[in-house]
Amino acid sequence: MIKKWWHDKVAYQIYPKSFCDSNGDGIGDIPGIISKLDYLQDLGVDIIWLSPCYSSPLADQGYDISDYYNIDPRFGTMEDMEHLIAEAKKRNMYILMDLVVNHCSNEHEWFKKACADPDGKYGNFFYLRDKDGDKLPTNWRSYFGGSVWEDLPGTNKQYLHLFHKKQPDLNWENPEVREEIYKNINWWLEKGLGGFRIDAIINIKKALPFRDYTPDREDGLCSLDNMLKDAVGVGDFLSEMRDRTFKKYDAFSVGEVFNEKPEDIPVFIGEDGYFSSMFDFSAEVCGKSGKGWYDAKPVTPDEYKNCRFDAQARIGDTGFLSNIIENHDEPRGVNRYISDEDRSDQSKKMLAALSFMMRGIPFIYQGQELGMENLEFTSIEQVDDIATLDEYQVALDAGLSPEEALKAVAKFSRDNARTPMQWDNTEHAGFTTGTPWLNVNPNYTRINAATQQNDADSVLRFYKKLIALRKNEEYKNTIVYGSLEPVWRDRHNLMAYYRKGDKTLLVIGNYQKEEQTVGLPAPYKNVLLNNYDDLKETDNAIKLYGYQVLILEL
Ligand code: NOJ
Repeated sequence: MIKKWWHDKVAYQIYPKSFCDSNGDGIGDIPGIISKLDYLQDLGVDIIWLSPCYSSPLADQGYDISDYYNIDPRFGTMEDMEHLIAEAKKRNMYILMDLVVNHCSNEHEWFKKACADPDGKYGNFFYLRDKDGDKLPTNWRSYFGGSVWEDLPGTNKQYLHLFHKKQPDLNWENPEVREEIYKNINWWLEKGLGGFRIDAIINIKKALPFRDYTPDREDGLCSLDNMLKDAVGVGDFLSEMRDRTFKKYDAFSVGEVFNEKPEDIPVFIGEDGYFSSMFDFSAEVCGKSGKGWYDAKPVTPDEYKNCRFDAQARIGDTGFLSNIIENHDEPRGVNRYISDEDRSDQSKKMLAALSFMMRGIPFIYQGQELGMENLEFTSIEQVDDIATLDEYQVALDAGLSPEEALKAVAKFSRDNARTPMQWDNTEHAGFTTGTPWLNVNPNYTRINAATQQNDADSVLRFYKKLIALRKNEEYKNTIVYGSLEPVWRDRHNLMAYYRKGDKTLLVIGNYQKEEQTVGLPAPYKNVLLNNYDDLKETDNAIKLYGYQVLILEL
């Protein structure tokens, strides 16, 4: 395998709106991010992915871009962005921006021009269809609910939006659209970006000609999965994009890819793949239901283990997954993958180590390193996220009472991860001197960076140790390039694996509150990490405490 600069890195996702507010308007901004670069460097972060901070009406919090060449004034200026790239560089860090090119905003000038002249050049930047009375061009359900078709203002046409109606899909079949996109990517790479996280990228290829599929809910619409399964040829777009942009700059690219087929893996992330890496969403999708969030099942420890191991096995050494516990679209991992009764610093550290030590590039989502938790919603009025509001309606339509619907969707709300970063125990968690745009989690007095920096047993200090171990010259090669082999896979509530390279490491997590004993396959030489102060040994066996995690060198 050809070694690449990103293989041994540690990445960190920033959700700019909620990270650090420098000017007291209640919204995080780029100067705020710059002020926290030392914190990130001290943690050991190398790559920073910024969720979108381009000009945007923020209908989907920046994933609706109205100008790809500008920074939204709420987040700062282009000078701030250039300053951030330069300050990161000084610290040997790389900045990734979010590449959101399946769709733009309906406030983008392309869309405005399409409305003004749907038969002209910009009409062909989108998917437009003539209106035919009440009949929709297709019966596809948008990811955010309702039909994917919306009237094109001032015309007798409709436009396609797989996401929100304020996010019209760009017509990738049109070479002029692709040229515009590549020009923009290169413009940013020229500014010194390390690369991009690539949003919703599999959606760029539509199954043409458009057709209906069997409806799967009372609304008469069907999931977009049907269309995506039928869409052939996304690789032509992706390879062209790679060759025209990332490749020339040796840029890192990580794709938001769901439902990939086994044959996709080598072409997506193998040598000379379309992307440098793609996220492992196997645990994220586990237990989800086609009916909606209200019907999702909790993920058990054994399911968690199996889906992560299966994902690792699918990839093998073909390429590198990007490993996550959570991101801005998900609830906090410590709520999703640990039961309410068992959530503690020990169980949070166990989850961290089990995920972090897998083969791939670890991504930490802001606040994950503190063990930040979901917010308790007491009313739907507290919800900002459009996906949650839609899923709430889906739950009501399925017959749940308002209380049940709130409880069901609160578990998955994207707002859980979007609450302001908890920096210290002063007002608003030190995130802003103004009024935060979204409620701060009241647990900030207990869970915050300042307190944890000073506590050698904190979750934050444990993350620092994990990162330091990944960078330790002695173990680095094994942790980055070594193989992953599950051990005792059938043992209930136990997740354990080898990392084998020039060293042999054994990672063992007791995924339950009760103790359990494991016999070691070989004596260990060193305990590289332990989330407890001690280790209970009984002749070649270890009696693990509840949620104990160990990284042993054999
Ligand atoms: C995936 C992004 O992560 C999510 O936040 C967004 O709503 C959709 N793509 C649409 O851009």
